[in-house]
Formats: sequence, C-alpha cells, structure tokens
Amino acid sequence: MSDENLTSAPLPMSLLPDSAEVGERGELRIGGLAIDELAAEYGTPLFIYDEDHLRSRCREAVTALGEGTAYASKAFLCVAMARLVNEEGLHIDVASHGELHTAIVGEVPGPNIVLHGNNKSDSELSLARSYGVGRVVVDSFDELDRLRSMHQKDGIVTPVLLRITPGVEAHTHKFISTGQNDSKFGFGLESGAALEAVEQCRQNPGVELFGVHYHIGSQVFRVDSFARALDVVARFFEPLELSELSVGGGLGVAYTESQSAPSITEWGEMLRGACESLGVKARVSAEPGRSIAAQAAITVYSIGTIKELPGIRTYVAVDGGFVDNARPMLYGSEYTTFAPSRIEESRVVKARVVGQHCESSDVIVQEATLPEGLAVGDLIATPVTGAYGYSMASSYNRMPRPAVLFVSKGSARTVIRRESVEDLMALDVQ
Ligand code: LLP
Repeated sequence: MSDENLTSAPLPMSLLPDSAEVGERGELRIGGLAIDELAAEYGTPLFIYDEDHLRSRCREAVTALGEGTAYASKAFLCVAMARLVNEEGLHIDVASHGELHTAIVGEVPGPNIVLHGNNKSDSELSLARSYGVGRVVVDSFDELDRLRSMHQKDGIVTPVLLRITPGVEAHTHKFISTGQNDSKFGFGLESGAALEAVEQCRQNPGVELFGVHYHIGSQVFRVDSFARALDVVARFFEPLELSELSVGGGLGVAYTESQSAPSITEWGEMLRGACESLGVKARVSAEPGRSIAAQAAITVYSIGTIKELPGIRTYVAVDGGFVDNARPMLYGSEYTTFAPSRIEESRVVKARVVGQHCESSDVIVQEATLPEGLAVGDLIATPVTGAYGYSMASSYNRMPRPAVLFVSKGSARTVIRRESVEDLMALDVQ
C-alpha cells in the first residue's frame, strides 16, 4: 500500500465478520465473545471464524447463484466446514483426495460433491466414483480414456462436466488467473480441443456428459471479466444443447480499507442478466470459495518483539507469519491490522508487521498502522483471513499450525486443534 493510502482511522467494521461489535472495554467481540478472552483461553496464533457469517454467505450463494452451486473447499476446509456447507444447502467442490475424504467424513452426500483436478489420480477417481459424486469435472483427454477403462472394469458410468478454457484473461494476479489459452487447465476453446472433448464424451460409454465448466481466475473484482467470459462460452455452449453450465468461482473480496468488491448477490444478478441476454437456457451455477469464507475470519497474534530502527521503520514481530498466511509472500497480497482490545482507537503508529520465520520476506503487512503504545505481549490481528489462510498453511521451520475456532451466539468450539510438536514429529521415522 502506498503511503498516501495509509489510514490512521480505526479499522472499518466492514472488513470484519457480520457479528463483530465493540464491547464495553472497547474490545472487539465476534459471535458474542471477546477476542482477547478467546486468545487468552486458546492461545495465539488463532483463526477465529464467525459461524453465522459463513452460514449467511452460503445461503446468499444458494439464492443468488442457483441450485447446484458448490462451495470451493480449497478456500477453507475441515470436517465442521463440510458439515456447515452441506447444512446450508450448497454443494461442495473438492480438488484432491484429502478434500474429498474430508467431505465424505463430513457426511456430504455423493450427489452434492463435485470433483476437480487437472491431474486426478486413479485412487481419487475410484473413490469419487464409488462414493457416487455428483459430477467429475474432466480436465484432459487422458482422464476421459481412464474413465472409459474404469467403466470397462466396474460398469460405473461417471457423470461429468468438461472444463474448458475460454481464452479470457481475468484482471487478477497471473498466478491465480486460469481462463487464458496458455493454461494447464481444461480444454481450449480456440484450439478446438473443447469441441473434440464433447465429441469424445459422446462416443465414450464410461461418461455421461451433463455440461461445461469454466473458471477464469480468482480475486476478480471486475464483473466485466465474468461477463466477457460468459459471452465467449455461451456461443460455444448453446448449440451443444447440454443442461448445465458452471461458471466457476473467482469473485474478489476487499482485504483492506482501500478496496471494495461486488457482493455475491450482485455477482449473481450480473450472471443472471448476462444469461438472459445471451439466451442461455441451461442450469447455471457457480463455485464461490473466497467470497464465502474470507471475511468470516480474523487471525489473532501476540506481539513477541518490537524493533525500532531509527530513521528507517519499526518492526513488530508476531508469533505467526507465512506459516499461517502465505498470501503476502506469494502474491504480494495486502492486509491490514488492528488491535482487538482497542478496536475503536485511531491507528497512528506506522510499522511493518512481520512473522517469526528466518526469511526477510516473511511479512504479514508491509505498511501497517496500529494504535499508539502497543507493547510486547499485546494482541494484534489481521481481518479477512478466512480464505486461503489456514488452507495454505505450512509448517515451515517446523512451526506448528494454529488452532481454528468457530464462534456463534456466545459460544466457541475448536474445529481444528492447534498442531503440536508431537504432531510434527509423527511422520518422522526415528
Ligand atoms: N472453482 C475452481 C475450479 C477453482 O480453481 C477455484 C479457485 C474456485 C472455484 C474458487 O475460487 P474463489 O471463489 O475462491 O476465487 N490461493 C489463491 C487462490 C487460488 C484459487 C484457485 N482456484 C489465493 O490465495 O488468492
């Protein structure tokens, strides 16, 4: 963030989960509970999710994006999350054996699961087919061949969508842009591979083709990117007379006070309007991940050391880092910070918030503003960490991963316990 964008205002409540409120001591409360008291009880670093926020975004997605809309579980998944998503009527998109297994343990019915992956293993395909997943999104000709041979052996016909790449570049970071021609995903429209894949499906007794899927990228703010892709895909899709079209995920969210993003409802309205004007008659659904989970959570850290470098800057080091938030390092993503015990105070002190890994790139917020007088032992937090935070956590430097709480209406439950050093040692053959 450039210096002129730096704000000294208190954190806007719009970046916090829906149930966020200010308590009598000036402390942040979520789900009716004081964040500083939760940190004292459960330790830091700590992910705290507002369960009602998650539920409300799931319901908004079902209403706005339609039947068959799936939560993209790569954004954040654990058994409790799989159950929650299922209870709220969303299907679930999984993209690996581990995600599929979690959905199964969370008792998501087979027909409500969508399996993705550009390089699915035989064991992933076998598990998905034997559990009866609703759709396998086929990504390559090799996969079609494998589904044919599996069918020859067990007679199971796999219900599929074909993933196509529409050749549209989303306005987002190139690492999370996926719809362009030069992509490892899907069948290209322009090259003719997509049409060839449709024809192969029609000759393949191992698959039943229901429709087409595409995904242009993630953290996309501009609805015109979605509209452009739909326009291109609809021209290919309509003559095929298939019954389903999935537009993938990708709706961006605001991480800092200088960003703003369309809501899920606005995204849905745009898609519906575009489908009407393009004459798309199929069932259109989507796969939101970030827009469901991101704003539902905050990460709470304890300050371990403060280093003032005269004439240079102040470094505030916390007990996490890219172990729990890899996004600043991977994508240069911007975050903001605040002190959960002093949520209403102006943030007048400039500092760089860093983690505790032995790399200079381990920065959580490059240019943070914080209330005056924070000291070692105080808490600071980053909002909007519910998506691609815990799910991309690592244990670099053999640092155990944080605990994850769901809070709602005055009670907290641990949905992922804190990793211990013993957990880390569990794989070592001694
Ligand atoms: N569907 C498919 C096929 C996807 O590949 C993705 C995300 C989604 C849906 C969900 O997209 P969302 O609504 O969450 O934008 N690690 C990156 C994001 C990678 C997204 C990959 N695919 C980040 O931290 O920004």
